[in-house]
Amino acid sequence: MSLNEHELSEIRMLIEERTSIRFDESRERFFSTRVREHMVRKGHARGIDLLRAIKKTNFDFQELLESLLTQETSFFRYPGVFEAFEKRVLPELHIRKFWKNPRSLRIWSAGCSTGEEPYSIAITVSDAVSFSEAWNVEILATDIGRQALAIAERGVYSGRSIASVSEKQFSSHFQPAEGGQQVRSRLRKMVNFVQMNLSNSVYVGKMDVIFCMNVLIYFSEERRQELVQHFYSVLEPGGYLFLGHSESISKMPVKFQAIVLNDCILYRKPTAEEVQKAELVTEGRA
Ligand SMILES: C[S@@+](CC[C@H](N)C(=O)[O-])C[C@H]1O[C@@H](n2cnc3c(N)ncnc32)[C@H](O)[C@@H]1O
Repeated sequence: MSLNEHELSEIRMLIEERTSIRFDESRERFFSTRVREHMVRKGHARGIDLLRAIKKTNFDFQELLESLLTQETSFFRYPGVFEAFEKRVLPELHIRKFWKNPRSLRIWSAGCSTGEEPYSIAITVSDAVSFSEAWNVEILATDIGRQALAIAERGVYSGRSIASVSEKQFSSHFQPAEGGQQVRSRLRKMVNFVQMNLSNSVYVGKMDVIFCMNVLIYFSEERRQELVQHFYSVLEPGGYLFLGHSESISKMPVKFQAIVLNDCILYRKPTAEEVQKAELVTEGRA
């Protein structure tokens, strides 16, 4: 098989251009191994053949991309995040939106992988007594990976992925199925899975909460900033953004309030009155 540095770097650039995913030196070995394995599977003898194919059709590009995605995830991956979501975010949104008609709650899991994150969100909302049937709860779950989304739609899990699910949650929200435990249809109906590339700022409507955990780490600093800015504009005033533990936005020029709770940081978009009040304080007129 012939695959030279120049071809590898062209493939790397094409992936970054279309998806924002960067393969820097720390992931160089992972990248070249996966590309070579893909070439063997597809019967490409030369790097130039692979390049031609992925430039020519989206199908070939997507096939290569699927083999390069890191999709590690699990239910309630960071317990502290779900505790903050349950105990701080949901009660606050419940009070703020209680008199709205219709009463709706919109949550976006951006980079949802195989579905464990949006289903963990659905379980948390569903078990929060305050959110009764009278609320219209919508969870949008998006990812660039088609294979991951197919697994998510089916909602069957086993092993480490469900290690943090409690007995009570199993009996309320899962049923035994071939290959593991399947999320019950009532919960599956709360989640809408859509293939979406976060590189294109697609309009998703206003959101109350956005979870984008362990996705930004794969992007360049510039693209991270653009995406966080996009999340800010998508969020309702008073809405929340959850990022992964190693993803900080402290140096970015966005006006989120950072709230530290237990072992996690939540980012809250201030309301118009809060922004105005802060401006008056800055100007010394409060
Ligand atoms: C490590 S997983 C994180 C899953 C989950 N959010 C969590 O924290 O457990 C990262 C996910 O981001 C997705 N992803 C990477 N780049 C993306 C892009 N440009 N658009 C949409 N999804 C992307 C990958 O396919 C993968 O499923």
